[in-house]
Amino acid sequence: MDPQIIEIPHADWHSVPANDAWIRALEAGKVLYFPNLAFDLTTTEKRFLTPEIRDPKIRNISLDATGHLKGAVATLTDQAQLAAMIQRFRANARTLIDGLLPRYGDALRMAPTSFRPTRVETRSQSWRADDRRLHVDAFPSRPNYGERILRVFANVNPEGAPREWRVGEPFETVAMHFLPRAKPYSAWRARLLQMARVTKSLRSEYDHLMLQLHDAMKLDVDYQQDAEQLAVPFQAGSVWVCFSDQTSHAVMAGQYMMEQTLHLPVERQYDPASSPLAILTRLVGHPLI
Ligand code: SIN
Ligand code: FE
Repeated sequence: MDPQIIEIPHADWHSVPANDAWIRALEAGKVLYFPNLAFDLTTTEKRFLTPEIRDPKIRNISLDATGHLKGAVATLTDQAQLAAMIQRFRANARTLIDGLLPRYGDALRMAPTSFRPTRVETRSQSWRADDRRLHVDAFPSRPNYGERILRVFANVNPEGAPREWRVGEPFETVAMHFLPRAKPYSAWRARLLQMARVTKSLRSEYDHLMLQLHDAMKLDVDYQQDAEQLAVPFQAGSVWVCFSDQTSHAVMAGQYMMEQTLHLPVERQYDPASSPLAILTRLVGHPLI
């Protein structure tokens, strides 16, 4: 297997250039790793590095485009400071992506920015939500019709603990492994799910297959162990970027991370043929959206 991780030495959010090899690697599903690029917290902000800051009923603390903060338990003054910290990460992540991938430009749609203070090792969850199992990201309630999920992550752990990921095999290999056992798409079932408001819009065949891959990967204990994979400790004070709908990934350990999701229409990629939509369409042999 080709190296799945590409290391980039740049240490400044504003000076990462649009390098063809990096762009190709990212769009091929590899992870761009910036070991020297840190999201620095001020001394005042460091007090937000506690799991108590999160409302236990909510998975992650998040800040949306309008500046609305969700999921934090703190005084109003602290909430404002926390929002400013998350906003600063949001701006940095956008600057990085604009420098690295100028063609995406105004086609990018920014999702809320998240701050994840929970310790991964001890988090208990259902198999479907368990990101300690290799998977590709797919949203059960929000069909995206092939739109890309680009993510920027920063490990802000103050004690130097790495964010330990496993990175699996290329998307096409995953798809060839699991497509033969995917349940067939049913249009009437998709309509029922929409009517019951399980999904926010009609689940396309693409969205169905992505969920099938996500679930089948997580449920297959042997695959989790035996699939070709690499353990990657993303160091404290580092950043990494990947298309999480394409990169097979799992998080095994770590605490305190910032995350920005950016959505991108497939046709704005440098190479739309490398997208999961194009790969699945080719493998299945008919249009999926
Ligand atoms: C995930 O997208 O699977 C979670 C990544 C992480 O929490 O490090
Ligand atoms: Fe994930």
